[in-house]
Amino acid sequence: MKKIAILTSGGDAPGMNACIRACVRSAINSGLEVFGVERGYYGLVNNCITPMTTHSVCDIVQRGGTILKTARCLEFKFPETRKKAADNLKALGIEGLVVIGGDGSFTGARYLSDENGINVVGIPGTIDNDLAYTDYTLGFDTAVNTVLWAINNLRDTMTSHDRVSLIKVMGRRCGDIALYSGICGGAEYILVPEVPYDIQAIAEDIKKSKERGKTSNIIVLAEGAGNEQEIKTIVSVISGADVKVTTLGHIQRGGTPTMADRMLAARFGTRATELLLEGKTNRVIGIKNNKIVDLDITEALSQTKKIDKNLYDMASKLC
Ligand code: ADP
Ligand code: F6P
Repeated sequence: MKKIAILTSGGDAPGMNACIRACVRSAINSGLEVFGVERGYYGLVNNCITPMTTHSVCDIVQRGGTILKTARCLEFKFPETRKKAADNLKALGIEGLVVIGGDGSFTGARYLSDENGINVVGIPGTIDNDLAYTDYTLGFDTAVNTVLWAINNLRDTMTSHDRVSLIKVMGRRCGDIALYSGICGGAEYILVPEVPYDIQAIAEDIKKSKERGKTSNIIVLAEGAGNEQEIKTIVSVISGADVKVTTLGHIQRGGTPTMADRMLAARFGTRATELLLEGKTNRVIGIKNNKIVDLDITEALSQTKKIDKNLYDMASKLC
C-alpha cells in the first residue's frame, strides 16, 4: 500500500484533530502518501480529496473540532453512492481509508470495503462513549470534563440560592456522560436511559432532605432519559424546591482535548496506520484495559453497549 486517506464523520469530538495528526505523521514517517477527505462521506462522494503533508497538521494537537470538517451524508446508504466514492479513491490510487467516527460511520466504512475492496480502518470518535467494544471513545473524557466545569459553576450559585440544579447532558441513547460527570461532580441524582427511575420518589426524597436542612441538590439528566421540563415540574410541585434547568448542548462537543484524549488520539492514529500497512481491512480500533485492540467491524458493531452497573450502584452510595 502506498496511499491512504483520512476522514472524520458524524458528530465531531475533541481529539479528532490530534488523531488526524497522529495518522498523517505516522503514515508519512512510514513512507505512505496521505490524503485528507473534507466533510466525511460527503467529501468522498464529491471528490473533495487533497494531499496532506506533515505541515498540514501543524498546530492542531490542542484544537477541538476537526480540520477536515465533518458531515452527515444520507446518500452514503445507497450502494451506487458508495461505488462513486470508491471510484474517486481508486482514481487517485488510494487503497486505504481511515474513518474517525461513530457506529454509523463504521457501518458505512464496512459497506465501502465489502462492496468495493477499499481497505478501511475505523477509529471511535464520539463524545457519547456508546460503542460496546471499547472502554473509551475519543472525545468522551474532554466532554465529561466540560460537564464537570459546568457542574462546579452551577453548584456555587445553586447552593447560594438554595436551589435544585437539573443539568441535561448529551449522549444520545448512552448514559455514560451523565454517569461519569455525575459521580465526579458529586451529583445527588443521575438519570440515564439504561436504568428506570421513579421521579416522584426522587422528588419526595428531595422534599425530605430539605426538611433535614439540605437545601440544594444536583440532578444530572442524560439525553434520552426523560424530558427536562416535565421532570422540573414534578420535582418543583412535590418538593417545593426552586428547580433551574441547564441544557449544556453543543458546548460539550468543543474545546481543547484533555491529556487522556490526546494520548488516545496518538495511540489510535498510529495503530490505524500500522493496520493498513499490515494489509488489514474492516477493522476498528479500541482500548480495553489500557491496551490498544482491534477487531472486525461487524463483530464490534454486534456488541451491545451497557451501562456499568457497578459504577451506577456506587453512585447511589455517594450522596
Ligand atoms: P456516527 O458515525 O457518529 O454514529 P451517524 O450515525 O450520523 O454518526 O453516521 C455518520 C454517517 O455515516 C452518516 O451520515 C452516513 O454517511 C454514514 N452512515 C450511517 N449509517 C449508515 C449505513 N447504514 N449505511 C451506510 N452509511 C451509513
Ligand atoms: O453523537 C454526538 C452527539 O453530540 C449526541 O450526543 C447528540 O445526540 C448528537 O450528537 C447531536 O447531534 P447534532 O450536532 O446533529 O445536533
